[in-house]
Amino acid sequence: MAWIGDTRSRHLLYLIMIKTYPYLLDPLPYAYDALEPVIDKETMTIHHDKHHQAYVDNLNKALAENEPLQVKTLTELFFSELPVVKNNAGGVWNHDFFWEELTTPGIGHIGESLMKELEKSFETVDEFMKIFEATALGRFGSGWGWLVQNKDGVLEVLSTANQDNPMVDGFKPLLAIDVWEHAYYLKYKNKRADYVKAFWEVINWDKVEQRLG
Ligand SMILES: [Fe+2]
Repeated sequence: MAWIGDTRSRHLLYLIMIKTYPYLLDPLPYAYDALEPVIDKETMTIHHDKHHQAYVDNLNKALAENEPLQVKTLTELFFSELPVVKNNAGGVWNHDFFWEELTTPGIGHIGESLMKELEKSFETVDEFMKIFEATALGRFGSGWGWLVQNKDGVLEVLSTANQDNPMVDGFKPLLAIDVWEHAYYLKYKNKRADYVKAFWEVINWDKVEQRLG
């Protein structure tokens, strides 16, 4: 019955791409404790219900009196010259994308097509993981680590500050790791490296593969 999951995933991605003001916070696609013990229930609850909700609320507030921007999609708002709009649009989109790619620990595995692409771009999956971990760890302050596809179809790893999104620079996001402290501090405290290493356990690789162009 894999096609049901595939269809739902494409539908969700489509909805992220086309929604406009006023924005609503979508529920998590699984229970708050579904990622235990890698990401604990309390972190997920605060991260989704407080932080993600705040990006939605702050974006709606900023757009309430800016009619021309109300018809723009989130990805169009990434290019806004107003920091409050750009930052909160990124916060809404990035978290929608992040929740969707996660799953119960230990059940995800890299499919054949994605494996081929990873090996083509990084030679080995181990090398990709090494670069991804170093990039996520190397992001100074708050931000995100990303696996992206460039315009030539080659996979790359990069990081962005704050709520910036690689689409602004023409990359297609495939996998994101939130390295803001709010994503891990309750459980991992100052040990971002432990969070980044554990993160591999909760990736839904089928979702990542579906994002390939
Ligand atoms: Fe976050």
